[in-house]
Amino acid sequence: MSIRIGEQERLFSLETEHTLYQMKADETDVLLHLWYGPRTGADMGYRIRTVNRGFCGNPYEAQERLDYSLDTLPQEYSGNGVGDYRSAAVQAEHRSGSMSVDWRYAGYRLLKGKEKPAGLPGVRGNADTEGLEIILEDKAGGLAAYLAYWVFAEYDVIVRSARIENRGEAAVFLTKAASLCMDFPYGRQEVIHFHGRHAMERIPERVPVPAGGRLAFESRRDMSSHQSNPFIILTEPDTTERRGICRGFMLMYSGNHLEEVSADQTGSTRVVCGIHPEGFRWKLEPGDSFQTPEVILSCSEAGLNALSRNYHRLIRSEVIAPRWRGAKKPVLVNSWEACYFDFDAEKLMKLARSAAELGMEMLVLDDGWFGKRDDDTTSLGDWDCNEKKLGCSLGELSERIHSLGLRFGLWFEPEMVSPDSDLYRAHPDWALADPGRYPMVARRQLVLDMGRKEVQDYLFDTLSTILKGARIEYVKWDFNRSVANVWSRALPEDRQGEAAHRFMLGTYRLLERLTEAFPEVMIEGCSGGGGRFDAGMLYYCPQIWCSDNTDAVERLEIQRGTSYGYPPCTMGAHVSACPNHQTGRTVPLETRGIVAQAGTFGYELDPSRMTEAEKKTVKEQIAAFHRHEKLTTGGDWYRLDETEEDWTSWMVVSPDRNEALVSVAATHVRANGSFPFIRLQGLDPEKVYLREDTGERLTGAALMYGGIPLPQFAGDYPAKQIYLSGGQEDAAGEG
Ligand code: GLA
Repeated sequence: MSIRIGEQERLFSLETEHTLYQMKADETDVLLHLWYGPRTGADMGYRIRTVNRGFCGNPYEAQERLDYSLDTLPQEYSGNGVGDYRSAAVQAEHRSGSMSVDWRYAGYRLLKGKEKPAGLPGVRGNADTEGLEIILEDKAGGLAAYLAYWVFAEYDVIVRSARIENRGEAAVFLTKAASLCMDFPYGRQEVIHFHGRHAMERIPERVPVPAGGRLAFESRRDMSSHQSNPFIILTEPDTTERRGICRGFMLMYSGNHLEEVSADQTGSTRVVCGIHPEGFRWKLEPGDSFQTPEVILSCSEAGLNALSRNYHRLIRSEVIAPRWRGAKKPVLVNSWEACYFDFDAEKLMKLARSAAELGMEMLVLDDGWFGKRDDDTTSLGDWDCNEKKLGCSLGELSERIHSLGLRFGLWFEPEMVSPDSDLYRAHPDWALADPGRYPMVARRQLVLDMGRKEVQDYLFDTLSTILKGARIEYVKWDFNRSVANVWSRALPEDRQGEAAHRFMLGTYRLLERLTEAFPEVMIEGCSGGGGRFDAGMLYYCPQIWCSDNTDAVERLEIQRGTSYGYPPCTMGAHVSACPNHQTGRTVPLETRGIVAQAGTFGYELDPSRMTEAEKKTVKEQIAAFHRHEKLTTGGDWYRLDETEEDWTSWMVVSPDRNEALVSVAATHVRANGSFPFIRLQGLDPEKVYLREDTGERLTGAALMYGGIPLPQFAGDYPAKQIYLSGGQEDAAGEG
């Protein structure tokens, strides 16, 4: 039983294998957050201390208790305007103009059988998944909040969301509806957040929570964004990759988001995360409710690597669609960096033939196959094949590609429209634009109003026709600009604050319909690389193009940052040509292969232009990828080098700890250097492992505490992969 309820004390305990989540309805019916951390086997209510502090008022019903204040008690889901001066989870405008929200506990319900939050992606679970619903009421405001908690015990994950209902008789406008609020009394905390920009996404930064101040990580681009991933980690200051307590907050949402982390006057830290309240104003008619996205929570007492592994395992098993769990993915070659817009069927066939000879398994035809598109100025929205350019139909091309033994994939950017397109000429009002203004244009394109049913239907029909008319096993779903001018012709004035979220709901609805109709087509997410790399998109797209930056040295940083929250099997990673198209850097082909094998392996170059020696290396890379694919996509991942600047190393260990693959790439080779050792992790200390490249046999303990020497590297950006197998023999080799 993962959920325990103390009826008398109104104490709610949710337990996972190593963690405890606890809350309690107190004598004033305020729902207090008691604990989220390692299991303690105790009622953590003993930590609630009340003190009469100046300028911390008391709720009316507890006015004689001068030490009892909403401003200092840890709240499970904070209200607004009634005496808690920290960040609110919910803000509302009532008919009277009042903006207060004052939650009181009103009951609970045990849940069984995970359900998806209405209209949104959700952690999947099954009929046995256990959950708890806590009901809060703001009687005067006529609001109820249904807080849902789902327990994924074996992953040390709790999934939280909220549904706000208008039980009153007049419309209420929600102006903030966070998915979660959580307070951590007493003790300084730090935050790791993942910032970036186009072509450099998810760079971790660790910062202290400022005393009395607030940090905000956010996107207002109606996409989860390159600039700030909807995932943060709250850590204690002494936590490292290998040890210490840390807690992750991952919002399962692909649109505007805000993660607030603040420390109050008493040193208590509050986290609030959810849909960004700026620009958000949702009208709830009587009886209506608003569903927030889910937050995937995990806590580890064994450092950041262990926290990441919880997320990796959960996403692999409970977020990605069952069809793609553990599925073998084809080694693909993508046409983008190989030809950009300059191709026809003959050129693609030449590329495909040499790809097939080298062992690649799928050709993905990127941008430029539709409308009149020879550059990025035109035709988004006109999803019909440009047969004049190609020299044949898509159906014919896909057959020809298949005759080489390759599968075929195709690029789309469904949510966009070019002003120069038949679609825009026929339906200019389908593009987002606010009245009386010219809309912002980016990459010469506009954004479709995805909240509108007719837009979703058009895209469903057009994409379905293409997918039915050719043999297509894979779709690359792109999204190449930030959204602006979020004003929808389909909504009345007082509902314009819903347009941004309705945009996301429309995109999810379309993805839902397409994945249902074409379950065998794998969708790879993309947004100018990794601008929409989030758990919401992963629900529909088992992998996401990690970045438009394909430089292997830069990818070391990008993929390392991404690995904090997301498993390698979701990270699109390709070997591209050198000098690299983004940085001009030249990196050995071997290193490019090792770095791409840390994700979903593929190529982004024209193999027919390679030398014989390069072709030989590519064949070896593909063979190595197949040999280790099960290990790299299903194993436990460890970042190994938290203090090193000159190299990056990582390893993956099979669940039975009988195999491991260690990778190291040097970004700076030094003359007359020291003798560094890379200390491995996750091995069985007692087992003996055979190091394949040297024939050495060493115990897991030696490899973890003594480490392996950094290879004697020379030259620019060398890298090495070391395979270890073990488990059968003891140290003396006696079987
Ligand atoms: C985005 C993608 C690229 C490529 C181009 C095509 O930038 O991230 O991989 O598909 O669009 O226009």
